[in-house]
Amino acid sequence: MKEVLLELERRRANAREGGGQKRIDAQHAKGKLTARERIEAFLDEGSFEEFDMFVEHRSTDFGMENTRIAGDGVVTGWGTVNGRTVFVFAKDFTVFGGSLSEAHAEKVVKVQEMALKNRAPIIGFYDAGGARIQEGVAALGGYAEIFQRNVLASGVIPQISVIMGPCAGGDVYSPAMTDFIFMVRDTSYMFVTGPDVVKTVTNETVTAEELGGASVHTVKSSIADGAYDNDVEALLQMRRLIDYLPASNTAELPEVECYQSVTEKDFSLDRLVPDNANKPYDIKELILKTCDEGDFFEIQASFAKNIVTGFGRVEGRTVGFVANQPMVLAGVLDSDASRKAARFVRFCDCFNIPIVTYVDVPGFLPGTAQEYGGLIKHGAKLLFAYAEATVPKITVITRKAFGGAYDVMASKHLRGDINYAWPSAQIAVMGAKGAVEIIFRKDIDDPQKIATHTKMYEDRFLSPFVAAERGYVDEVIMPHSTRQRLARALRMLRNKDLQNPWKKHDNIPL
Ligand code: HXC
Repeated sequence: MKEVLLELERRRANAREGGGQKRIDAQHAKGKLTARERIEAFLDEGSFEEFDMFVEHRSTDFGMENTRIAGDGVVTGWGTVNGRTVFVFAKDFTVFGGSLSEAHAEKVVKVQEMALKNRAPIIGFYDAGGARIQEGVAALGGYAEIFQRNVLASGVIPQISVIMGPCAGGDVYSPAMTDFIFMVRDTSYMFVTGPDVVKTVTNETVTAEELGGASVHTVKSSIADGAYDNDVEALLQMRRLIDYLPASNTAELPEVECYQSVTEKDFSLDRLVPDNANKPYDIKELILKTCDEGDFFEIQASFAKNIVTGFGRVEGRTVGFVANQPMVLAGVLDSDASRKAARFVRFCDCFNIPIVTYVDVPGFLPGTAQEYGGLIKHGAKLLFAYAEATVPKITVITRKAFGGAYDVMASKHLRGDINYAWPSAQIAVMGAKGAVEIIFRKDIDDPQKIATHTKMYEDRFLSPFVAAERGYVDEVIMPHSTRQRLARALRMLRNKDLQNPWKKHDNIPL
């Protein structure tokens, strides 16, 4: 008996060595952890249970029969994050550069299926060279098997991808179909084709970082939802994110202890909106002061900063915040902001996370750049996302809610459950200047008259009361009581039951 036990230990130790000490050292020298170290750091201590540790590839081409390594370039299994089950896979760059063979794909597919069947989130750590070149079409088939399972799991369990090294070719599309992608600065990059192919095809000279580094995907392409300075920080932040997410689309929201009173008034909020309507203020201050302990996990913080999206909690339960940011482009809605917020709203709706929307929006951004770029369709994405969402929706208009953007930002008409306005709210078709210049065009050369008309327009329309008179706003609330109002509304809406008509799926304007 003892011999077989020793044999098991020997084989395990061999598998844990991956591609060998030399390659592990090279991995460390690049500032990266190994696949197993990443999993250890991410999961609760001692909770990892590995699957398929002894799986090897079956390839016999190009002398591959002489180079079989237990695990075949990916470490898979499950464990817990603060006690909650999570499935994981981590590409092992020390084994054939983490490249994907048929056997490697089967391992990933197995955890995908386990995660879906057992309704728990799945997270993948990427550090890989794409399809195993020696395997050819078997690797391509393996990728497609993974893609198919990503799609089936979409909207059922949260799927998260963390790019911690190269991620190219076939490896990019699975992350692209997951809910969130995060990257590690300076050590990770993501592209369909690398710099060499780019040079050959388009004659562009570009580095891997310039083509697909974190600075590109968090700021320009919006492929990635965030980036961190190193592996450890990324892994700890992923633990934080998991804590916000329900295990599946039928699971309860996670609940954590709340240490901040919801009845205490925050009088600093009464001074948040400046007297001058054109002066910006930071909407994040409102988010931080209304969520529990100011603990906010921002999504896409570096892209389309004119809208803020992310997770917080109220009374210990997860809430998705969406807020126009007056500090950037006056909080205007443009194509990027609309796409960013639409995707976030849809994630929240998939997973029954209530949405709190803070509105201060002067409208949609005018101009040829926006129109040529498809503003109509992108703006419609956000409109569509809010309109189809059946989760509790609470809206607070802090200042401007002008034009179509008023409708879009979780208005009453899009089945907003509770729509509050601060006394500083201005709900109108447009701002006073633009309105007066149109309806009193004949007086345009008479500054006296224009001033009178403007004052009249402001008095009549630039307040929350015209909307409140019609019931478009449920109540005008004191800024200092916003957190208390949110908490009460969210509690009241806990059993909300609203169904959309049956359909195979909708046809959101992609
Ligand atoms: C087999 C691979 C591999 C691959 C890397 N390796 N990529 N083995 N198939 N795709 C191996 C290397 O041979 C090497 O083995 C080890 O991994 C480390 O690779 P290095 O090149 O030494 O590392 P580095 O210099 O850091 O460069 C990493 C890299 C580079 C940028 C990822 O390896 C690379 O460009 N690889 C090829 C990328 C690629 O073209 N993939 C195919 C994409 S096409 P040793 O034994 O020396 O340690 C694709 C189509 C699928 O994926 C489409 C489906 C939709």
